[in-house]
Amino acid sequence: MAARQWNPGDLLELSGYFWKTGVLHAAVKLDLFTVIGDGQLTCDEISRRLNAAQKGVERLLNALVAMELLVKTHGKYANSSSCRTFLSKESTKYIGHIIMHHHHLVESWSRLDQAVLSGDPVRTRTSFSKEEWRESFLMGMFNLAMGLAPQLVPLIDLSSQQHLLDLGGGPGTYAIHFCLANSGLRATVYDLPTTRPFAEKTIKQFNLVDRINFADGNYITDPIEGQYDAAWLSHILHGEGPEDCRLIIQKAVDALRPQGIIIIHEFILKNSMDGPLFPALFSLNMLLGTEAGQAYSEQQLTDMLAVAGIKNIRRIPAQTPNDSGLLLGEK
Ligand SMILES: C[S@@+](CC[C@H](N)C(=O)[O-])C[C@H]1O[C@@H](n2cnc3c(N)ncnc32)[C@H](O)[C@@H]1O
Repeated sequence: MAARQWNPGDLLELSGYFWKTGVLHAAVKLDLFTVIGDGQLTCDEISRRLNAAQKGVERLLNALVAMELLVKTHGKYANSSSCRTFLSKESTKYIGHIIMHHHHLVESWSRLDQAVLSGDPVRTRTSFSKEEWRESFLMGMFNLAMGLAPQLVPLIDLSSQQHLLDLGGGPGTYAIHFCLANSGLRATVYDLPTTRPFAEKTIKQFNLVDRINFADGNYITDPIEGQYDAAWLSHILHGEGPEDCRLIIQKAVDALRPQGIIIIHEFILKNSMDGPLFPALFSLNMLLGTEAGQAYSEQQLTDMLAVAGIKNIRRIPAQTPNDSGLLLGEK
């Protein structure tokens, strides 16, 4: 394929994208969209509510208007309907957690050159031991999965299955959606003990306490107790190197009944590893943040499943915003 022709303007636009990112992150961090809510407020009123310097707030507000996130009429600022829906904490469709998670990644992305030179991460997992970071990470996963689950869940037939293992299930969003779509299904969300409060809160929110339980465990070092009809591994393998991925898959397969099914949901690369764009970028994000994590190709994931004795492995066609994909196979 011929390479795209870039002119200096295009290159500078690409180089400067982070200015716009910075504006959005600052506004979400200051909770500006919630503060404005349904109102039409002057800069003075907003500054007082934020307890912030008017000089800075005015520039931020005007940049947000220029970016078409806010609307300014007769010197008063209002949310656009999209911002009211997605960026105000009053909305059930709030996605600010995942935006804050992105914000926490910015510093490490500014040191990508170092990670490339050394091959080592510049962000430690201990960063996520900070309560605020863990919340934005886990509830950010909730934001993403809430958007995607209604599209992915109908692609997978669990109508004759009884017990689903949502391995590394985080806040349990997929377990919840699979149970909502399959009345005979119950699920176990297996994740680190620190995730329990987030998962329990979400499961309760959806009134599924009697059908979904949480199991504390580390899928590298601990066993997976119980026997399941289906195992769902969503966005966990990219955090580990190939050896640990094989270990995790083997444990999940061992926990399946004969003929049980395993489904992997991942940012799946082409076998040439150079696209689609999001999985290729995501692999760099894993270089920045993990010792051995990476995005894997369809072939690599298929091989891992085959080694664990999984048969009839197939890709389930799905079109998702971040080019995540589904692989399904049977024990
Ligand atoms: C990227 S999130 C994916 C969450 C969820 N599966 C989803 O797709 O929305 C990865 C999850 O794996 C969990 N995790 C990471 N390392 C783990 C380990 N060693 N054992 C169990 N869970 C782990 C994290 O706590 C987090 O909830």
